[in-house]
Parts: sequence; structure tokens; C-alpha cells
Amino acid sequence: MSGIFSLNGKRALVTGANTGIGQAIAISLAEAGAEVICAGRSSLDETVGMIEKAGGKAKGLKLDLADPMAGAPVFEDNGPVDILINNAGIIRRADAIDFTEEDWDAVMDVNLKAIFFLCQSFARSVLARSGEGKIVNIASLLSFQGGIRVPSYTASKSGLAGLTKLLANEWAAKGINVNAIAPGYISTNNTEALRADESRNKAILERIPAGRWGDASDIGGAAVFLSSPAAKYVHGAILNVDGGWLAR
Ligand SMILES: NC(=O)c1ccc[n+]([C@@H]2O[C@H](COP(=O)([O-])OP(=O)(O)OC[C@H]3O[C@@H](n4cnc5c(N)ncnc54)[C@H](OP(=O)(O)O)[C@@H]3O)[C@@H](O)[C@H]2O)c1
Repeated sequence: MSGIFSLNGKRALVTGANTGIGQAIAISLAEAGAEVICAGRSSLDETVGMIEKAGGKAKGLKLDLADPMAGAPVFEDNGPVDILINNAGIIRRADAIDFTEEDWDAVMDVNLKAIFFLCQSFARSVLARSGEGKIVNIASLLSFQGGIRVPSYTASKSGLAGLTKLLANEWAAKGINVNAIAPGYISTNNTEALRADESRNKAILERIPAGRWGDASDIGGAAVFLSSPAAKYVHGAILNVDGGWLAR
């Protein structure tokens, strides 16, 4: 690929790249020309294999963000990285009245604390080489809406929207773009419980203007755009890719 959407010569790191949205983003970035470090706690072989089979460049990196500081050394250990996609995330469902501290902490650690410290170490490495960088955080409709039975998920994704804007304010003039994507209802492991619940599934589908669940591949183009020179003046944006859900 050439032109303003090209990622030729760039190196990207995608967390949670073994499946779902992270896998789709890794594939799209590689198609746009980036070499992709596919990071995750499970085997990355499938994603790396798919990228290599299509003629792209990728490598796997074991990274378990249940320890939110685990990502701190990755940018020192893996050479210069130009693009950081903070995709890894978890969800725990229970009524707020019964919600446990364990479910609160586990979600906040992976979805918010780990992301802040990955952004910090990425920015330190970019600034140390006087380079340029792109950060894309994967937010959610629950960065804007309340949701139900997912208190720590809503808190983490609402926090991530705020964090995206704060980091954009601090780093926009230093050559780092910080933005987010808010996916709508995408058919992945994360939403399996919703699709299995017939009445929730029906209610969700009836409210999506596009009339269908999103596919993980629907998120890839937005990630390429925000990672590319085409987005050089885009800072602190949260791009909804939701089949029109939030427009309704
Ligand atoms: N699906 C949707 O409708 C939707 C909507 C809005 C936002 N999102 C967000 O999109 C992102 C990707 O989710 P998804 O829908 O693709 O769901 P998914 O299939 O469950 O993927 C989540 C990814 O995060 C990884 N992950 C979880 N805990 C981790 C940890 N401790 N260390 C490293 N990686 C970890 C998972 O690895 P394992 O496979 O090893 O668990 C997996 O790769 C999440 O941030 C999610 O909140 C999804």
C-alpha cells in the first residue's frame, strides 16, 4: 500500500492479538505494510501465521497484562515501535449489588492500569529517540453509556476515554497521536453471552441501524487510519465504529 494510509516501514505492537478484534487489527495493519508484534497471554501462532501467509511480517510476544506493569519493558526489549494498539480487555458480568472486589480489580488492571503504563513506556521510548508515535486505544460504547451488570467494565472504558484525551493533550505537540476506537456490538468471545441470550440478542439487533452485529474485521480500517499519516492532525478523538448505534 502507498499514500497517506500506508504503514510501510512502521512497526506496530497490538495487545490481545491472538483473537477477535486484536487479531483483525493486526492483520489490517500488516496489510497496510506494518511489521506487527502480536502480543498476548495465549499463543500468537495463528495470527502470526495468517499475516505471514498473506506475505506480511509479524512476530509473537508473550505478554500477560493481568500484571499491569508487565508491559513496561516491552519497548526497550523489542526495538523501536511506532504504533501501539491497546486492544486487550476483559469483562466480568454480575449485578452491581453482588459485584466482587476481585471482579473490580481484575478488569481495572487489564483495561485501564495496564494501558496507562504501556502508553507511558511507549511514549518514553518514542520521545527518547525524538520519533513519532501513534497510540490507538480500544474503548467501547460503554465509554459513553452506562451498560448494565458490568460496573468495572463501564468504569474502565469510561476512564479509558478520559485517559485518551488527557494523553492527547500532553503529547500532541510532541509527535504522538493518541486516539481511540469505540467498537459497537462485535461478534467475538467478549459478546458470546449476549448473543447466546435470545431476547438480549434480538433487542441489540433491533437497535443497530446497520441491522447486524459487527465483525472484528470492521474495526481494522479505523485502526489503520488512526495509525497512518492520514490521521496526523487527529488527537484525542474517539471514533465510533458501531453500525450507527450511538447515532440512534
Ligand atoms: N466485542 C465487542 O463487542 C466489543 C465492543 C467494544 C469494545 N470491545 C473491546 O475490544 C477489545 C477486544 O475484545 P474482543 O471483543 O476481541 O474480545 P476477546 O475475543 O475476548 O479478546 C480479548 C483479547 O484480550 C486478551 N486479554 C485478556 N486478558 C489479557 C491479559 N491479562 N493479558 C493479555 N491479553 C489479555 C485476550 O486474550 P485471551 O484470548 O488469551 O483471553 C484476547 O486476545 C477489548 O478491549 C474489548 O473490551 C469489544
